[in-house]
Amino acid sequence: MQLFLDTAEIDLLGELAETGLVDGVTTNPSLIAKSGRNFLSTVAEIAELVAGPVSAEVAATDFPTMMLEGRKLAGIAPNVVVKLPLTLDGLRATREFAMEGISTNVTLCFSLPQALLAAKAGATYVSPFIGRLDDFGAEGGELINEIRAVYDQYDFDTEILAASIRNPAHVRAAALAGADCATLPPPVFRELVKHPLTTSGLKQFSEDWAATGQSIL
Ligand code: E4P
Repeated sequence: MQLFLDTAEIDLLGELAETGLVDGVTTNPSLIAKSGRNFLSTVAEIAELVAGPVSAEVAATDFPTMMLEGRKLAGIAPNVVVKLPLTLDGLRATREFAMEGISTNVTLCFSLPQALLAAKAGATYVSPFIGRLDDFGAEGGELINEIRAVYDQYDFDTEILAASIRNPAHVRAAALAGADCATLPPPVFRELVKHPLTTSGLKQFSEDWAATGQSIL
């Protein structure tokens, strides 16, 4: 399972990328707005920092402008993935980009029928939003299960990119459901490594080691 970072904050990204555990990055207009940075130069910087796929979202909602924006974004670097909303115009653009060999990430997916359409359009990735579904009173993790079953049943190649992840439990649910990738805000990425028994166990080992008075180096 690939782990992406859901951020446009270059500093946070750089720190975590150094671990070698970051397989890609996703951004969206809200994350760009929050960063206060220039969209196009930020995408270029991220695409240089991380070798894996970097999703950059179109701002347009109509097909012709989506095509123009998407081509421009795809031209920034070979690892840029054009992110498109799950609308009829977005799916039409997805299909066109697929025919042109441009990778896409169909975003704002909240139902199995929507995911089916994204796959039929030839999306490289589909992004079901787990956290927002949970906020809505639905079961986000269950949607990943459903999409996995249907994609496998019909041999769709579209990769399931679990998005809107709010905590490690969401990552667990996505992994158990067979998501191909999950995109995590940096704080959630850092949370993944933590367990109270790891912390207390390490403290005990350090204290016991210090008591020996030895040094390995
Ligand atoms: C990623 O591609 C999505 O844009 C993102 O995960 C949305 O997360 P949010 O629901 O926390 O805004």
